[in-house]
Amino acid sequence: MLVFAKIKSVLQRIQSLKKGASIGFVPTMGALHKGHLSLIEQAKKENDIVIVSIFVNPTQFDKKEDLINYPKTIDSDLSLLKSVYCDIVFTPTAEEIYSNNITSQLFNFDGLEYQMEGKFRDGHFDGVGTIVKRLFEIVTPTKSYFGEKDFQQLQIIRKMAEKHQIPTKIIGCEIYREDDGLAMSSRNSRLTKEHRAIAPFIYKTLKKAKNEFGTKNAQEVIYWVENEFKKQPLLALEYFEIADEDTLQPIKNKDSKQKYRAFIAVFADKIRLIDNISL
Ligand code: PAF
Repeated sequence: MLVFAKIKSVLQRIQSLKKGASIGFVPTMGALHKGHLSLIEQAKKENDIVIVSIFVNPTQFDKKEDLINYPKTIDSDLSLLKSVYCDIVFTPTAEEIYSNNITSQLFNFDGLEYQMEGKFRDGHFDGVGTIVKRLFEIVTPTKSYFGEKDFQQLQIIRKMAEKHQIPTKIIGCEIYREDDGLAMSSRNSRLTKEHRAIAPFIYKTLKKAKNEFGTKNAQEVIYWVENEFKKQPLLALEYFEIADEDTLQPIKNKDSKQKYRAFIAVFADKIRLIDNISL
């Protein structure tokens, strides 16, 4: 496994690959867990080589303290990557990526950016678009892998790649869950014991909401979920929405031809958890 911190070195290595070799790319912010490893394993199966980036991108954090508190576990990340036979790891510094101008490019994601996470995390998706576009330009991946836990991010990256004509195939990968259903996230390690114990309630409620959606209209399901969370003092619901999978617009009237997904964000004390389910 080769580890490069400089753009120049990773470019050189990529240029030296056999002509036509396919590159699978998994961008991460480190603090790797089994969810990331499942993306890497899929990328290994579908490509000649796999490149993983580890970069805690400052421009996608709307709160400074979140950036400061983001877990940094580079030694264990590198040994995990070795264990799944990752070929190349790219670990740039902020200076390497942004020179001395740590700001986001402004994007138009055709309205995807104004829904859900976009309402609560100012500038977040411009930050994500900026770094992912930059990484795509450096790595020139054949296929790029993103988890469906951040489903809105996945759709925004698809839109960005399409609008900027970046020739990589974006692959969305199913949410990887703990045995008790909690979606894997680097933030889970920051939950208190008490909050960790109650956190599977989020996915349990999503599954029940999916059932309810079979017989009830969207507004009734939304009220039902809000009520469930009112009974749960350790978790504070930020939003629960049912939206069209492609446009992410909130559902108006159920249309059997449309694909819907339920999206949720919850605070477990100060830790913000998100999840979603296809309906
Ligand atoms: O999902 C993430 O970990 C990040 O948003 C990403 C895609 C690596 C961009 O920094």
